[in-house]
Amino acid sequence: MTHRAAIVGAGHTRFGALDAGPRSLIRSAVDAAFASVDKGVDRHEVHEAFLATLGFGGHQIGNSAALLAEEAGLVGVPTTRVENACASGGFALRSAVGALAAGASPLVLVVGIEKMTDVTNARRRYWLGVSGDTEWERAAGLTFAGVYGLIASRYFAEYGDASEALVEVATKNHENGALNPNAHFQKKVSREDVRSAPRVARPLGLYDCCPVSDGAAALLLADPEIAHRFTDSPVYVDGTGAGTDYLAVQERPELTRFRATQQAAHAAFRSAGWHRSDVSFLEVHDCFTIAELLALEDLGFASPGEAAALTLSGATRRTGRLPVNPDGGLKAKGHPIGATGVSQAYEVFVQLRGQAGARQVPHAEHALTHNVGGAGATAAVALYSVG
Ligand code: COA
Repeated sequence: MTHRAAIVGAGHTRFGALDAGPRSLIRSAVDAAFASVDKGVDRHEVHEAFLATLGFGGHQIGNSAALLAEEAGLVGVPTTRVENACASGGFALRSAVGALAAGASPLVLVVGIEKMTDVTNARRRYWLGVSGDTEWERAAGLTFAGVYGLIASRYFAEYGDASEALVEVATKNHENGALNPNAHFQKKVSREDVRSAPRVARPLGLYDCCPVSDGAAALLLADPEIAHRFTDSPVYVDGTGAGTDYLAVQERPELTRFRATQQAAHAAFRSAGWHRSDVSFLEVHDCFTIAELLALEDLGFASPGEAAALTLSGATRRTGRLPVNPDGGLKAKGHPIGATGVSQAYEVFVQLRGQAGARQVPHAEHALTHNVGGAGATAAVALYSVG
């Protein structure tokens, strides 16, 4: 097995509506990542860093990478901002793996951050909306909830009413979030709560949507050759893949397939030399509950139209055959845009080291993360193992 990178440290802030501003969130996640390195680390070994963000609620749209250098105590270190909407974190992780492979630095820092709750609803709608197609979709007033509502309607038309499977995704992810001290929502919801909640974009209701969250997460990646200098239990990145699609959904041949995810998964499994059956658990991009069903199909864990039955069988629960989103997913853990992809890798880091506490997945040895930009225009997948 060729390991492409080793995660040797990881940090995470609470997700939610927080008082902390962007600088403080970055600092907290970075400090926690450095503190988590078992054998200690000198910050000056980091010669390359990446910041994933959509722009902190519009506060710092340009040149925000410099803030990471400042808050991490790394002024002078080349730092690059990666922006692929909600997939920014997954693409930043992929860039970091590439930087390690290129020999740019023995240690690379990756941070994802968003501050979303201190702006008006109108400003947030605009700021999130411009990550979708602005020539047609946004001009017609379509929000992301609206696009995913259309996708869900189309899925129901093609494969039958899957609304009970969406209820299962919401209740499962809230149940997992209730065990995660970093989650935005740490409360269970009943099936009836989900069914009777107000509709946001039919057929999707309140509990089908991720919330608007603040938060940050950080990772320290090392060259696998030197990982044991930092810890006896690194988590290896064995494969990465990424893909793109047309920005506007009307340009795509199908609404119920995300080809960017399919491409990303194909590339990641090929580069790791893994089979689907190797994977112990998944962290997938459930920005809306229907997206979890699409992910299971596009990643190759269910045939088209079969993810609803798989979900209803209980297989995707934390103690099921194929646990999905043990941290609560975007649905309950929250979705601070740039932080999400990095947070997914954080979850893998603690799960594969057996440090996930009450939400620990039994026998977790191989994991997959899946991070989607907007309504499927960009996607990144990564595969991890304990070696
Ligand atoms: N899931 C569960 N509960 C939620 C929630 C969610 N997604 N969003 C808000 N709530 C709860 C709040 O905690 C609050 O509960 P309380 O009254 O007990 O305190 C209540 O619902 C009202 O909260 P509020 O913030 O006023 O909700 P809202 O109506 O303004 O927003 C959504 C709800 C679903 C529209 C909003 O969360 C949203 O836009 N989500 C999608 C974000 C998005 O598009 N991200 C990009 C994805 S690609």
